[in-house]
Amino acid sequence: MSIIDLDRFDFLYANRVKGMKSAATRDLMATLSRPGIISLAGGFPDTRAFGEEAFREIYYNVAADSAQALQYGPTGGLEGIKDVIVDVMEAENTGARQEDTFITTGAQQGLDLVGKVFLDEGDAVLCEGPTYAGALNAFAAYRPRIIHVPMDRAGMIPVAAREALKSIRKRGIHVKFIYTVPNFQNPTGVTLAVERRYELLEIAHEHDLIILEDNPYGMLRFEGEALPTIASLEQESGAGADRVVYLGTFSKIFAPGVRLGWVHAQPGILHKINIGKQGADICSSNLSQMLIYSYFRHADWRSYVRRLMMINKERRDTMLDALAEYMPNEVHWTHPEGGLFIWATLPSYLDATAMLPRAVAKNVAYVPGEGFYSGGAGKNCMRLNFSFVEPESIRRGIELLSEVIRERMELRGDLERGVRSATLGKRPTGTPAASIHPQGQ
Ligand SMILES: Cc1ncc(COP(=O)(O)O)c(C=O)c1O
Repeated sequence: MSIIDLDRFDFLYANRVKGMKSAATRDLMATLSRPGIISLAGGFPDTRAFGEEAFREIYYNVAADSAQALQYGPTGGLEGIKDVIVDVMEAENTGARQEDTFITTGAQQGLDLVGKVFLDEGDAVLCEGPTYAGALNAFAAYRPRIIHVPMDRAGMIPVAAREALKSIRKRGIHVKFIYTVPNFQNPTGVTLAVERRYELLEIAHEHDLIILEDNPYGMLRFEGEALPTIASLEQESGAGADRVVYLGTFSKIFAPGVRLGWVHAQPGILHKINIGKQGADICSSNLSQMLIYSYFRHADWRSYVRRLMMINKERRDTMLDALAEYMPNEVHWTHPEGGLFIWATLPSYLDATAMLPRAVAKNVAYVPGEGFYSGGAGKNCMRLNFSFVEPESIRRGIELLSEVIRERMELRGDLERGVRSATLGKRPTGTPAASIHPQGQ
């Protein structure tokens, strides 16, 4: 039992705290900063690529209007940055209007605010299984039921979403929105197929739901054709374009340190979100908004994004090659065409959470799959990040990881053989040996 379990103010905490848990990725941060660890765990872009000179220059530009940079700003954000966002969304072929754009403190705050304005306790949210752990975290405070819809290599399976909706509705539960990360999803790296984007819109329309489209990685495609955002498909359909709430962020195309993202949605929803944000942090940092404005207006941000993509592609290739070279045949993984993550699935009897300390002892870290589900699935899975670590370290990290996995597999083989020979000693030949599936899911 830890000191946290013995908290003497337990009787004072709100009920909502019981459903809240720290994201596995956040908990790993302290371990990951240990020297010598090859961290395949973070979700970090490589901010070293930005460079001191470019950084100095944007600060210099902002200093010319230091009074505004140091001041409070409007809750929904400064006008200039909203124009930048219209351009960024345009680069993803998504029409955006300045007045439908609302600045948040990272897309993470967008998730929290959407939860705040839509979710009552017991409401249901449909999301991918697995899904972004930070979204589970943000929603948990509002105590919804998380319904994971199974995915395959083309993303969330619409038939399964329909079935889930039917059965939840039968139970009289109010479903509020479908949450999806359509491009190079965190944690799987999987992209939602275009037909499925249309289908999700159809489903949302049939059931009168919101779609929360969380798209931090769409511009980070280094292979294949760009796919239309769900927001743009809704706009094209001409059906009123009001049920997609789109979340964007500067974290992956610029830098997470500025903590700046946005919501693009219809005015009614933004009005509620505005009130929610006033209570949360009044406004996002003017300084961050002005830094971004300065960079996106005066520098070639598209070429910076292209540079990040090239870095990511090389590292993704290295990771895929290393996985193919070192991993046992029983391990499978995804092949993302962009973004930052690969999802690996181990044999079902292995537990990636239980295995982590051994991996860290060998100086490699990953995020166990369990944290990306609300109900304990994903134990035999892991998320591997390829954007942050240099290629040689990625290779070494995967080699070390494969050693840990093989150790575990051999251990199980030994156990099975032990059980079989013990059983054979006791039972007449022909009786099936006891099955041992310590961590089967
Ligand atoms: C799918 C997804 N949504 C939201 C976020 C939060 O991003 P931000 O840094 O903009 O808060 C992340 C961060 O990794 C993410 O992967």
